[in-house]
Amino acid sequence: MTQRTKSRSPFYPGQPVPVDLFAGRAAEIQRILTRGAAQVQAGKPAAFFVEGEYGIGKSSLARFTQWRAERQHKLFGLYTTLETAESPDDIGAALLQAAASESAPLGPSRSEKVMNWLAEYVGEQTIFGVTIHADALKREGPSIARGILPFLGEIHKRVREEGYEGLFLVLDEINGITASSNFAHFIKGIVDKNALSAEPLPLLLMLCGTGERRREMIQRHQPVERRFDVVHIGALTPAEMEDFFQRAFESVSMTVEPDAMRLMVQVSAGFPKIMHLVGDNAFWIDKDSVIDHEDALQAVIGAAEEVGKKYVDQQVYKTLRSPDYHAILSKLARLGLEPRFTRKQLEQGLTETERRKLDNFLRRMRDLNVIRQGDGRGEYVFNMRMVQLYLWLCEAQADGPTQANGPTRA
Ligand SMILES: Nc1ncnc2c1ncn2[C@@H]1O[C@H](COP(=O)(O)OP(=O)(O)OP(=O)(O)O)[C@@H](O)[C@H]1O
Ligand SMILES: [Mg+2]
Repeated sequence: MTQRTKSRSPFYPGQPVPVDLFAGRAAEIQRILTRGAAQVQAGKPAAFFVEGEYGIGKSSLARFTQWRAERQHKLFGLYTTLETAESPDDIGAALLQAAASESAPLGPSRSEKVMNWLAEYVGEQTIFGVTIHADALKREGPSIARGILPFLGEIHKRVREEGYEGLFLVLDEINGITASSNFAHFIKGIVDKNALSAEPLPLLLMLCGTGERRREMIQRHQPVERRFDVVHIGALTPAEMEDFFQRAFESVSMTVEPDAMRLMVQVSAGFPKIMHLVGDNAFWIDKDSVIDHEDALQAVIGAAEEVGKKYVDQQVYKTLRSPDYHAILSKLARLGLEPRFTRKQLEQGLTETERRKLDNFLRRMRDLNVIRQGDGRGEYVFNMRMVQLYLWLCEAQADGPTQANGPTRA
């Protein structure tokens, strides 16, 4: 069969998922919309912390709920990532940029009135479609940081004239900044000041980060804990994953055979990032618009390599160079895909020399942030499931992919 020209891949391994392919999370969405967006629309501010491990879909959920909240509850969305922020001043700058920036796939809203005001604010002729100059960001960042609420108030005033009834501000990727005690105070300051104000700004504030980061923030400043409604996001269910693959492939007129579907769902193990990686590989590998088992298998192997190059080869294998460590790693991989394991389980398959190195191994894996101590005695938990999956896939490949001790859960 001749290969037809490929349309655009419906998979987005590195970006928040477009709204039409968003899968699952019905309960979380409902909660954010009813306890958050609807309340804000009615004039009562709300604050959420969306927590979950790396790549689980925090940003996607934030974008998706912003999109829904704009349509259902007339909230104007502002989205910014604090990936590189180190201080409240940086947050001020990020916010200024967010207010001006281009609409992303799921689109923070645009407002002409806000654009015009911002252009005046930073002394530029027009800021449509362009990023704000670095020197303006640097200049204005601190004053915006000192007065986030007045700044947001100015935006609100303008979008209200365009029919919006509140703001939905997402501060994503707070991972770098939570360790600073400033940040917890800063955030609590915003929430409290707004709550106590005679005329609170109808603001839905959403922070996104890992559970560790949330705990770190609380540690720095305990009272911040009560300010947030925590939305924990975990693995997608097999049905949700299947629904996602089905719709994604359907959108480009491709079908998926049942055993291929089973494999892709099984390997994705509830992890949306893996789902997109596997799906994207299958999309490019396929030649006849039907994803069969062989396509899926090749896709899985390809996806594992991509993940591995980024997360495992660069860090884990380079750091843990001794053959004994590698042997322990491979035993660890063979435990399967449950995120938790115990020292005892791992110890069982090891030789005497490997056993002597086990504690060192576990310590180094903790230092590498691959695992952390669990709640139970001698229990450990994988921080990044993708790392676990890659290790597992490497083993699976070594064995021949279909024979390995596969994931049982998914
Ligand atoms: N509900 C979903 N349905 C379909 N795809 C999703 C969903 N959630 C996330 N994804 C996809 O999974 C990947 C990771 O999502 P996202 O970037 O939102 O995760 P994250 O938790 O913000 O990750 P990080 O920790 O890296 O910030 C992306 O490729 C995204 O397109
Ligand atoms: Mg994210």
